[in-house]
Amino acid sequence: MNQAKERLIFALDVPDINEAVRLVKILNGHVGYFKIGLELFVAEGPSIIRAVTENSSAGIFLDLKLHDIPATVSGALRSASKYPVRFVTVHCDHPNLLQNKESFRKGIDILGITILTSTSPDHLPLLGFSQNISLPQLATERAEIAQRAGCSGAVCSAQEVEKIRQACGPNFLLIVPGIRPQWQGMSADDQSRVATPEQAIKDGADYIVVGRPIRNAADPKEAAQKIVKEIEHGLVSRNQEKP
Ligand code: C5P
Repeated sequence: MNQAKERLIFALDVPDINEAVRLVKILNGHVGYFKIGLELFVAEGPSIIRAVTENSSAGIFLDLKLHDIPATVSGALRSASKYPVRFVTVHCDHPNLLQNKESFRKGIDILGITILTSTSPDHLPLLGFSQNISLPQLATERAEIAQRAGCSGAVCSAQEVEKIRQACGPNFLLIVPGIRPQWQGMSADDQSRVATPEQAIKDGADYIVVGRPIRNAADPKEAAQKIVKEIEHGLVSRNQEKP
């Protein structure tokens, strides 16, 4: 993976196939992956995957965020591996989550969700965690569970990338949502642990996920191009910092 563009995943968080295809046509050639999330997949089913592949050359990230007992999650992953998708997400809270991994298609990468980027430190007591555990610590523990279970990588916020990279090594893929470029004003929304594209890449993200900053831009293609430039800068800073 050498091109900065390959590292940009656009979240197709839209309600239907028409709006999805409109954005895919605009952004084809300017992003590396289209992420199909729950809103679109629940509305359209597998036909949305065909619609995206028919209208673009980018890869597909199927963000199902599966959360169930290991047998059920593994069955759903076997079903998902029939589709031409590269990434699928699971909530990884069981060390033996992925059962009969050999039955999944080769080339599919299962990613463990660590802690959603909408979660802030104040939410931890509400979720039953001790005040003494930090979000980076918790996210790192979840990433380690995902790695032990056989996931290829994890989804985490930019604030946890360095710690998880140290714990899980250079080959564990780190995918970072909660991206807010400075030029879009970093306005308050449901994301809590945010970073700019350049910072996330500089800190060691392999891929960044961007939704609203591109979708809500006056010119989504131009917004994607600006983000790719920022990824390039992040890669340069990262390489300069390498010992
Ligand atoms: O619009 P925005 O850039 O906030 O979109 C972020 C995308 O990343 C959404 O599709 C959301 O579901 C996804 N995501 C996230 N936090 C995670 C995992 C996925 O925001 N931990």
